[in-house]
Amino acid sequence: MTAEILSDTPDNLRRAAEALRTGGLVAFPTETVYGLGADATDDRAVARIFQAKNRPDFNPLIVHVPDADIAATLVDIPDAAQRIADQFWPGGLTLVLPRKPGSPVSRLATAGLDTIAIRVPAHDLARRLLRETGRPVAAPSANPSGRLSPTTAAHVAAGLGDAVDVIVDGGPCPLGLESTILGFFDGRPVLLRPGAVAAEEIEAVCGSLATPETETPTRPNAPGQLASHYAPRAALRLNAADVDEGEAFLGFGPPPAGMAATETLSAGGDLVEAAARLFAVLHELDTHGWARIAVAPIPETGLGRAINDRLRRAAAPRPD
Ligand code: TXA
Ligand code: MG
Repeated sequence: MTAEILSDTPDNLRRAAEALRTGGLVAFPTETVYGLGADATDDRAVARIFQAKNRPDFNPLIVHVPDADIAATLVDIPDAAQRIADQFWPGGLTLVLPRKPGSPVSRLATAGLDTIAIRVPAHDLARRLLRETGRPVAAPSANPSGRLSPTTAAHVAAGLGDAVDVIVDGGPCPLGLESTILGFFDGRPVLLRPGAVAAEEIEAVCGSLATPETETPTRPNAPGQLASHYAPRAALRLNAADVDEGEAFLGFGPPPAGMAATETLSAGGDLVEAAARLFAVLHELDTHGWARIAVAPIPETGLGRAINDRLRRAAAPRPD
C-alpha cells in the first residue's frame, strides 16, 4: 500500500486528524522537516513509527502540541524553560522537561525516560492538524533510519511511502533543519542538539548555554544516548528458557510448557504489540517490586532488534 498524499484542505486535515486518532501514521510538514506522526498517547501507534523507520533502537521521540498551555498539561515547565518557551514557541525549538505525573504520553515515545521532549511547531498546517487531532503527536523526522531528513512530501513518499497511511503535503519546509534541543540539568539550560534556532539567539534570552560535555561530564553527550540510561530497578535475565524462584517471567508468545507469564510483551508473538508494551510493562513490574525479571527470547528481526537492543542495555551491568 502506498500512502495517500493529501493537499491542505479543511476536509483533508479532518481525515488526517481522524487517521491519527485511530492509530494511523501521518506524515506532516513542520517548519524544520517533515515529521512521521502518531498519537503520542497510543503505545501501539508509536510502535508503528519505529517499525516504519526501521529504527534499530528506541531513541525517544519529540512530542508536538499546538500551544504552550497544552505542553504544560504534559510536562513541568520551570521558570528558566518558561522564559525560553515564551520567546521561541511556536518555533524550531524542542525542550526536554520532566514528565508530569499522570501524563498520558506513551512510555515508548519517551523510551522509558522520566522526561518528555516537547515542541510547539510554528508551521501553520502543522498547528491546524494538531488542533484538529486534539492529542499530542509524537513525530521523528519522516525518513527511514539512517537516511536524510525529508523536507518535501515527495521525499517522504520516496523513503517511507508504503509504511505511512497519509502524507499531508504542505510544500517544502522553510527551515529544512531539525529543531534545536535544550535540556535542563539542575535548572541550567544545556544544548543537547544544535538546530533550527541558533544557540546565540537563545543565549540572548537566558545567558550562556552549557554543553553536556562541559556542564554535566557524567551525563551522556548526545540526546539519543540518554535513552540508554533507562533501566528498570529490577535485574533482567534475557533469553530465559526457565524461571527461578523469586523471578517475574516476562513472556513473548506462548509460554513454555509448565510456565506462566507474570506479564507478557505479546501473547500472540506480535513484535509491534511487544514494542508498544515494552517500557510500560517494565515500569509495571518495577511498581510491583520485582527484583529480578526473566525475559523470554525475542526474535532478532524487524522491531525485535530494537526490543533486544533495549533489553540488552537494561540488562547490562549498572554504574553502581
Ligand atoms: O525538527 C525536529 O525536531 C523534527 C520535527 C519532526 O519535529 N523531529 C526530529 O525528531 O528531528 P528525531 O526523532 O529525528 O530527533 C529527536 C531527538 C533525538 O536525538 C532524541 O534522542 C531526542 O530528540 N530526544 C527525544 N526525547 C528525549 C528525551 N526525553 N531526552 C533527551 N533527548 C530526547
Ligand atoms: Mg531524525
